[in-house]
Amino acid sequence: MRKKIVAGNWKMNKTQEDAKNLVEAVLSSCKDEAAVTKIFFPPMPFLGMVSSLVQGTSSFSAGAQNCHYAESGAFTGETSAAAIASCGASYVLVGHSERRQYFLENDEQLKQKIDRALGHSLSPIYCVGEQLAERNNHHYFTVIKNQLQNSLFHLSESAVLRTVIAYEPVWAIGTGLTATPDQAQEMHAFIRLALTEKYGIAVAQKISVLYGGSCNAKNAKELFACPDVDGGLIGGASLIAEDFVKIAHSF
Ligand code: PGA
Repeated sequence: MRKKIVAGNWKMNKTQEDAKNLVEAVLSSCKDEAAVTKIFFPPMPFLGMVSSLVQGTSSFSAGAQNCHYAESGAFTGETSAAAIASCGASYVLVGHSERRQYFLENDEQLKQKIDRALGHSLSPIYCVGEQLAERNNHHYFTVIKNQLQNSLFHLSESAVLRTVIAYEPVWAIGTGLTATPDQAQEMHAFIRLALTEKYGIAVAQKISVLYGGSCNAKNAKELFACPDVDGGLIGGASLIAEDFVKIAHSF
């Protein structure tokens, strides 16, 4: 059985007090059932606090939105995987399209970030997704295959089993243009097939593949009903406790 996951990527939103209130509101109304893992991705300064708030629960975790690819050193303003792990976090997002677009992160750096995260017992959630032009010119399968091959497929079987993949079509992020369940399922099945070709079916069947991009309390149910969609990476809707809880209850 694959892990079902609902992850809230808060991006650059919330203050410390808002962050505490949001986590507490979710914890008080969301089922703490191991069947669905719920992960908060707050801004870095609140990671320790959010990790402490979820400690002792059976299904909530905290993660960082990014980590640096180096172990440590003179990288002012950056955060190492070791520092993230020491805050009590368990996950890290790698390769979100906003990082690729605004911070020019490339597949080679993302590969190193994945290795670094795994080296500190963090589970990377590796984000892949095509631009609108790549969807329109029908290159989207090639784009996703390359992103997988360049940054993830160097891993051994046991290492890849500790990762999660998030398919986030760039044209759907923050736009209200959600992929249809058919579009999501088509790509998730393609990712599963790529995993099967590389690692075999037994491994491919164990790796969770999340959908992200304008997933909300209204459309989560039909997206999560797709056989290869194992949950969601939620941006905007994760900032509202009630919506995030509804999404977490959408399986
Ligand atoms: P969105 O963002 O839900 O606001 O579209 C998703 C994401 O960027 O992870």
